[in-house]
Amino acid sequence: MEKEIIALQLAHILGEEFTPEDLKQKLEQPKHNGHGDIAFPCFFLARHFRKNPQNIAEDVSAQLDHPIFAGTEALNGYVNIFLDQSFMTDHILRRAAHNDYGRHRFGEGERVVLDLSAPNIAKPFSMGHLRSTIIGNSLSLLAEYCGYTPVKINYVGDYGTQFGHLLAAYERWGEKDKLEENPLKELSNIYVRFHEEAKQNPSLTEAGRDWFKRLEEGEEEAAALWSHFRELSLEEFDRIYEQLDITFDLTRGEAYYSDKMGETIAMLDEKGLLEQSEGALVVRLDEYDLPPCLMVKSNDTTTYATRDLTAAIDRYRTYRFTESLYVVGNEQTLHFEQIQKVLEKAGFPWAPSMKHISFGMMLQDGKKMSTRKGRTILLEDVLEEARERAGGNADIGTGAVIFHDLKHQRQNDVEFSLDDMLTFEGNTGPYLQYTYARAVSLTEKADFDFRTDLKDGSAWELVKQLHLFPDETKRAFIQKDPSVIARYLLKLSKHFNQYYAHTKILQTDQMNQRLTLVQAVITVLKKGLHLLGMKTVEKM
Ligand code: ARG
Repeated sequence: MEKEIIALQLAHILGEEFTPEDLKQKLEQPKHNGHGDIAFPCFFLARHFRKNPQNIAEDVSAQLDHPIFAGTEALNGYVNIFLDQSFMTDHILRRAAHNDYGRHRFGEGERVVLDLSAPNIAKPFSMGHLRSTIIGNSLSLLAEYCGYTPVKINYVGDYGTQFGHLLAAYERWGEKDKLEENPLKELSNIYVRFHEEAKQNPSLTEAGRDWFKRLEEGEEEAAALWSHFRELSLEEFDRIYEQLDITFDLTRGEAYYSDKMGETIAMLDEKGLLEQSEGALVVRLDEYDLPPCLMVKSNDTTTYATRDLTAAIDRYRTYRFTESLYVVGNEQTLHFEQIQKVLEKAGFPWAPSMKHISFGMMLQDGKKMSTRKGRTILLEDVLEEARERAGGNADIGTGAVIFHDLKHQRQNDVEFSLDDMLTFEGNTGPYLQYTYARAVSLTEKADFDFRTDLKDGSAWELVKQLHLFPDETKRAFIQKDPSVIARYLLKLSKHFNQYYAHTKILQTDQMNQRLTLVQAVITVLKKGLHLLGMKTVEKM
């Protein structure tokens, strides 16, 4: 609100060349305390007015005038604006009292498709899949809070030549009891063994190819085994989703597209995009400085790219999305660039609305956690251990794991450490949960009236933090980065804890006003944590 008012006045003062929208973008948060609440830098105006920035700032400062300004000053080329604290506090506390504070409507009537989680069947659920699940889920919640209708799709990896290998391995060494008891372990054991032995024994690779062919042709035994493996794997994954409290609108894996790729290939061919290359069919992407996208291999099988292309077209047909987000690790950047460019070349106007929402790796001791080299930690063990360390409270334990992931800008790598996740001091989930519970218990100690005429100067920074929430929910979605919210909540909590440490709240003549403020903190903390996919606990 105050920014709109300032921008309108600035436009009026500066003349027609400057629109309120552009001027609003120029407004800054002053870097130093005592330099006001909002700053307007005048440097970009120097050429236009042929004056130095400080003189412009002085002119502007003298003309700004509105009841919500407590004062203005010109300093070093900036106009510093001081807001009327009691007016603003009243306004902010009124808004923050609503349960849907920070909600937006700009996405109304539009769909956002999210491709998230996407673990591979017959393999353990990796840390990469965990990151995708947690980030994707939060983005879906943020999309919804901005008015969009999100569609969460779990595109499980249930197709590809590796399943031929797996079937061949199972034929040789598979044991039914072990499979039923701990399916992912058994399947990954025989899979690893297959690759070990295949180095010595090429006939294994041959057998794997054979099984894949049988699978592709829909042969009964192969199909039955495959769907059994798939079922068992999905059951395991569901246990994880349940702990994270995450659901999908659609679980549709790569295999669904196995018999639908002919249409895609035919379409590419018709548009003259397919080229022969050493017996394979590719789409060249030279003009984008990208390597060609492999569509059909020389042995006539399709690829990961062909399936993703087919799935993308199918998703557009079904959902008419405004944006289609692929929450997948940054090692797949090239893949998604290629998919997008192929669709662009094929003339699909919606191709630019496909976005790869990439994220960094989960590291252990600075190295990638990998299934192959035994550097893997099973996710279920992590969640279990987190719960134990959180005194048996699953909401806090799981919340700690989620927050640890989301507080990092998504592009950055994350060092995995249970200790770091679960401490109460520092920037952790438990710290936020604890702050929340403390605030709740405070409001339970007394009945109070909703009063917004708070007189505490020391509350101003906290009140201003509350005021930022709607901007932050919007920015988190626009940047597709839940860490915006995570970091915001940490700041809000710090300001709250500081205020609380220095201000007596109960049994004071400002109690109603102070508890009204605390209640607003509670509302925003709760909403923010929920947007990250975390639960709040009332008592800790
Ligand atoms: N299953 C894949 C993997 O684990 C990720 C799939 C991501 N989504 C997609 N549409 N390609 O690497």
